[in-house]
Amino acid sequence: MSLLHIVTVPDPVLKQVANPIENITAQIKQQATDMIETMYEAPGIGLAANQVGVLNRMFVMDTNYRKEKSSRDAIVMINPEIVWKSEEISIMEEGCLSIPQQYAEVERPKSVRVKYIDLGGQTMEYIGEDLDSHCIQHELDHLNGILFIDYLSRLKRNMILRKVDRMKKDGLIL
Ligand code: NI
Repeated sequence: MSLLHIVTVPDPVLKQVANPIENITAQIKQQATDMIETMYEAPGIGLAANQVGVLNRMFVMDTNYRKEKSSRDAIVMINPEIVWKSEEISIMEEGCLSIPQQYAEVERPKSVRVKYIDLGGQTMEYIGEDLDSHCIQHELDHLNGILFIDYLSRLKRNMILRKVDRMKKDGLIL
């Protein structure tokens, strides 16, 4: 296992659309293992391939706080697709490991049903509500080159980007 470097804004890889995964190779399984480890270490509740500089359609998530490593159980979603969204909306504060220490409220469907391939190559479905729903949509957005700050006003977005830029210049983040 190895920890991966998490890229931060304004790295252009975060604005790119990731490609579908054709085969679950040993390399893909290793990527999943490394992304899970990197997500827990960060710590974060979700991590998409773009964020570690890989342009394929995979994200990992675990919205439950698990103190004991042995109880951890991350979900790996390959080629995820939202097949249903609720009309009901949820507003939650979101953050992102690629936009360190910045948070803003984002409005999204309260529930989603997502279809994906698991590491065993099986087609699976998962229904996410509230935090799960936000996390799934946020991570899937990453695979399409979309960040949560893209939902904010230009003023707010620029303010956040400037803050991150300032933290980088001050050496507070890499
Ligand atoms: Ni993110």
